[in-house]
Amino acid sequence: MRLAATIASVIFLAACDTGTEERDAVASTHTVQRGYVPVPPGTVPRGTSAQVAALAPPGPERTPALLAHGGERFKIFCSPCHGLNGRGDGPVVSRGFAPPPSYHDERLRVLTPEQIVQVITQGKGRMFPYADRVPPADRWAIAHYVKELQERGVGTVSGQESATP
Ligand code: HEC
Repeated sequence: MRLAATIASVIFLAACDTGTEERDAVASTHTVQRGYVPVPPGTVPRGTSAQVAALAPPGPERTPALLAHGGERFKIFCSPCHGLNGRGDGPVVSRGFAPPPSYHDERLRVLTPEQIVQVITQGKGRMFPYADRVPPADRWAIAHYVKELQERGVGTVSGQESATP
């Protein structure tokens, strides 16, 4: 029995030692590098002329539909740290991440939508960029929603601060 098991495992190990896994990994790396693999859905292009144009000020007009969309995206991407009201007290902060300043501080109240789009695109200090997750049109929608939050004042959005999507 033991001999049979030993022979079986030797055959099994020998079968594994073909090097195919290694070759496959190399082949797939080359395929990706040559650009043969289609771009996965949801990928946000970076640095194309279309994207530069989409980021150029003044951006889209502020409409109720734009604000509604911006609010929805804000709750997903920004409220975890900035809080639903923009006070910098989202659930991520309560778990130890550096607290962002409140959007209602004098210094941030004067930011233009363009400057907010720039923070989303490039990040700022301890906030990393969201360019790979938030497409340009959504950045404008979020920026206008942040301005609306500021105009409405502190503590006007109902709902739990810890609400996550
Ligand atoms: C992971 C936590 C986190 C998320 C998510 C986040 N931020 Fe921030 N944000 C920060 C922190 C921390 C700062 C303060 C950065 C610093 O000064 O070091 C900040 C700062 C800012 C500022 C102020 C920049 C300034 O001039 O001081 C703006 C505006 C801002 N964030 C907008 C956004 C928007 C819009 C989103 C969503 C797309 C977002 N943030 C998502 C953590 C976050």
